[in-house]
Amino acid sequence: MNHRLAFHDVAPHGHRYARASDLGSFEFTYKAEITSIYRLTDAENLYRIRIVNNEDRRHFSFRPGQFVMLELPGVGEAPFSISSSPSNREDIELCIRTVGNLTGVLGHAVRGTRVGIRGPFGTSFPMERMHGGNILLIAGGLGLAPLRAPIAHVQEHRSMFDHVDIIYGSKELSKLLFTFQYEMWKKDDIGLHIVLEKGDPAWSGPVGMITKVLEEIIGFRDVSFIRQTHAIVCGPPVMFKFVCAMLSERGIPMHKMFVSLERRMHCGMGKCCRCNVGSTYTCLKGPVFDYWSVMNLKEAI
Ligand SMILES: Cc1cc2nc3c(=O)[nH]c(=O)nc-3n(C[C@H](O)[C@H](O)[C@H](O)COP(=O)(O)OP(=O)(O)OC[C@H]3O[C@@H](n4cnc5c(N)ncnc54)[C@H](O)[C@@H]3O)c2cc1C
Ligand code: FES
Repeated sequence: MNHRLAFHDVAPHGHRYARASDLGSFEFTYKAEITSIYRLTDAENLYRIRIVNNEDRRHFSFRPGQFVMLELPGVGEAPFSISSSPSNREDIELCIRTVGNLTGVLGHAVRGTRVGIRGPFGTSFPMERMHGGNILLIAGGLGLAPLRAPIAHVQEHRSMFDHVDIIYGSKELSKLLFTFQYEMWKKDDIGLHIVLEKGDPAWSGPVGMITKVLEEIIGFRDVSFIRQTHAIVCGPPVMFKFVCAMLSERGIPMHKMFVSLERRMHCGMGKCCRCNVGSTYTCLKGPVFDYWSVMNLKEAI
């Protein structure tokens, strides 16, 4: 039988679906549904999403740092980093901030809402290359969302890493993401260092810029520690510019620092020319780059 005939299986909202194995995963839209919604802050929700078809679900896998295109039927499609453990083959989680049209509608979604998922797309953090050494996981604001997958990898392979520290900067106390995870991270011997830009009567931790805390954490480390260290940095470009400069100054080589560059994306597959930095399409060559490559990309930061 010609498999392509199966493509004419038309979904209720007018999209054509096929098996990912028949079609490049770029163009394949998995039928999925929202199985739970957890309010993280006033602006961000954590959506747990399950691919409906069992075979498709088994087929789907991703690596830390990759993203999916989430489609809301009748509204549109947008890229979101996968913010859950790659070893969870049942569901994926997306931490989504309400900023505009699609995310606004999504803010009113309920359990059982049908969505489409395309992907996974993009480059990933080379976690295996970091085995045996120390890791600094550095996030600013919503940057903690893409970091949650590499953190889950670290937790599940804790003996493969030496010192692990999360350095997380947030504007204010009420904007902290994933507060329910902090104790679990600490239990797995992961150092958690949170800094707020704006003080709060209920906050006794550090206040200021993320670089201040970073300095305290790496400032006293000797050369052999630094040589064994990789860094993953996610956040607004201005943050990783300063953070990476500081890491570099301390002796961490640029090829051992990884950043996630988020550009506006539309197709996710190198066709629409929306996401380019110079001549590089971040949907294909990114979003994860080592800092050495970013330094050589014009307009990247
Ligand atoms: C690889 C990648 C991973 C991402 N991961 C996440 C994630 O984990 N969680 C999350 O909440 N968001 C993430 N984003 C951003 C997300 O895709 C946008 O917030 C989303 O497309 C907004 O859609 P909208 O229709 O609600 O907003 P629109 O109505 O299209 O726009 C509303 C406002 O948001 C701005 N905006 C839209 N898209 C982007 C963008 N890509 N970057 C910056 N500003 C934008 C617009 O300029 C406008 O001001 C990611 C983006 C990329 C490219
Ligand atoms: S999103 Fe279309 S080319 Fe990258």
